[in-house]
Amino acid sequence: MSTIAVLGAGKIGESLLSGLINAGHATEKLLFTERYQQRAEELTERYGVRNADVAEAVEQADVLVVSVKPQDIDPLLELISPLVTPEKLVVTLCAGLPTELFERRFAAGTPVVRVMPNTPMLVGEAMSAVSAGTHATEAHLETVEEMLGSVGRVVRIPENQQDAVTALSGSGPAYFFYLVEAMIDAGILLGLPRAVAGELVVQSAVGSAAMLREGEGHPVIMREGVTSPGGTTISGVRELEKHGVRAALIDAIEAAHSRSVELGAKHRADPSEGDED
Ligand SMILES: NC(=O)c1ccc[n+]([C@@H]2O[C@H](COP(=O)([O-])OP(=O)(O)OC[C@H]3O[C@@H](n4cnc5c(N)ncnc54)[C@H](OP(=O)(O)O)[C@@H]3O)[C@@H](O)[C@H]2O)c1
Repeated sequence: MSTIAVLGAGKIGESLLSGLINAGHATEKLLFTERYQQRAEELTERYGVRNADVAEAVEQADVLVVSVKPQDIDPLLELISPLVTPEKLVVTLCAGLPTELFERRFAAGTPVVRVMPNTPMLVGEAMSAVSAGTHATEAHLETVEEMLGSVGRVVRIPENQQDAVTALSGSGPAYFFYLVEAMIDAGILLGLPRAVAGELVVQSAVGSAAMLREGEGHPVIMREGVTSPGGTTISGVRELEKHGVRAALIDAIEAAHSRSVELGAKHRADPSEGDED
């Protein structure tokens, strides 16, 4: 069992620690680093996992999971770069930061795997996309896939698709929350109490997601299944089409993609190269 150090145990880092423990990873094979002493003590009490300083974490762990905010990456890289050797596996969860940024700073040959997770990691239902850097092997990817499999689902993609993933599943939960919020407002307009409207919409979302995951059908077929001739649903669907909701969603995701490319550009050696071809 590898020793894993989470560098920056914030929301995502804590979720990962929690998921690994639930999946049976030994607590003595986990470490985390954290800037605030009080937060570190809380995490140790909650999970029984040891807090370490960065140097100790890098020395003791086989896998270093970088989960600080992208804007905090430089001071962390300053600290760890002289200590990281090619025997370590570096896993970055930092949105928008290319593997080459890490490879440039570490000893030649250090394997780096880039991951785009999403916030449902907090409830063990993350969607994570993993990409190998220049020196990451099949075995490294499998290690990362197994680790992230404890907090949700994992797909493997080339790094040049990471901006698209950021726009679709990285930002995706926000679009579902937005849709749920709007539907709850509709329930209130129709005179339902907020709590009842919330229960109705959230359970409909959970049930629909379960059908999508478990069913063999395509979303179109599932929607047709609740759209009877001359019925209520088709009246609603016509309004969605009239208001261009499908086009608005496509535009929204395309805009998120452009922004991801723009934010990533300043970290690339050649800023004219986007992640996407
Ligand atoms: N949340 C998401 O939806 C999401 C989705 C995909 C990817 N990600 C990525 O996941 C990463 C973590 O995001 P998050 O939402 O978990 O952020 P967060 O809650 O702010 O967690 C980052 C943690 O790292 C700590 N930290 C910063 N610099 C450090 C250092 N030098 N040494 C040790 N600890 C340090 C921060 O401490 P302080 O409290 O002192 O700042 C904080 O506890 C980000 O890179 C983000 O891009 C997040």
